[in-house]
Amino acid sequence: APWYDADIERVILSADDIAAKTAELAERIDADYAETDGLLLVGLFKGAVMFMADLARALTIPVELEFMDLSSYGARATSSGVVRVLKDLDTDIRDRHVLVVEDVVDSGLTLSWLLKYLPSRYPASVEVVSMLRKPKALEANLPVKYVGFDVPDEFVVGYGLDYAERYRELPFVGVLKASVYGGA
Ligand code: PRP
Ligand code: MG
Repeated sequence: APWYDADIERVILSADDIAAKTAELAERIDADYAETDGLLLVGLFKGAVMFMADLARALTIPVELEFMDLSSYGARATSSGVVRVLKDLDTDIRDRHVLVVEDVVDSGLTLSWLLKYLPSRYPASVEVVSMLRKPKALEANLPVKYVGFDVPDEFVVGYGLDYAERYRELPFVGVLKASVYGGA
């Protein structure tokens, strides 16, 4: 068995669930952007890498791939938290249709910041796709046009989501055993 199996309490989304949802999202995105000259996917390191790779391959419209690396300063606890740009866009997004690709929207801090930043570069449009959404983000009414799954406020890892940089490579999304992160 893979090394991580012993650390997972339960699987909440299987690799098949994720693949089916990716295909469904891709079909909607293909239709919504059919009349455009293509899409610029902007993924956020590192969490979005798996979903970005799968989504790009499921789409049938032309896409270009861009990555940014953002880090939220200080505590996740402060909603006014500062976001630091560790890696900016490499390309001019002016007049481009931008689709931000995320693995999960949790407090919404990262996304709120990005949605204020991107318009300063004059894109033609900005939308967001996230494979997962936590309850806080749902409450905060963030404009995530395409959502894969709403997941409970538990410690979920896999498919890009980490705990202390581990578990990103899991092909499924699972709840981490509390014993692993020093919980009960
Ligand atoms: C995680 C996740 C999202 C963000 C969501 O990234 O990948 O980008 O947090 O949280 P928020 O809605 O509360 O801002 P993180 O900054 O931990 O880095 P990572 O992608 O490298 O794991
Ligand atoms: Mg991230």
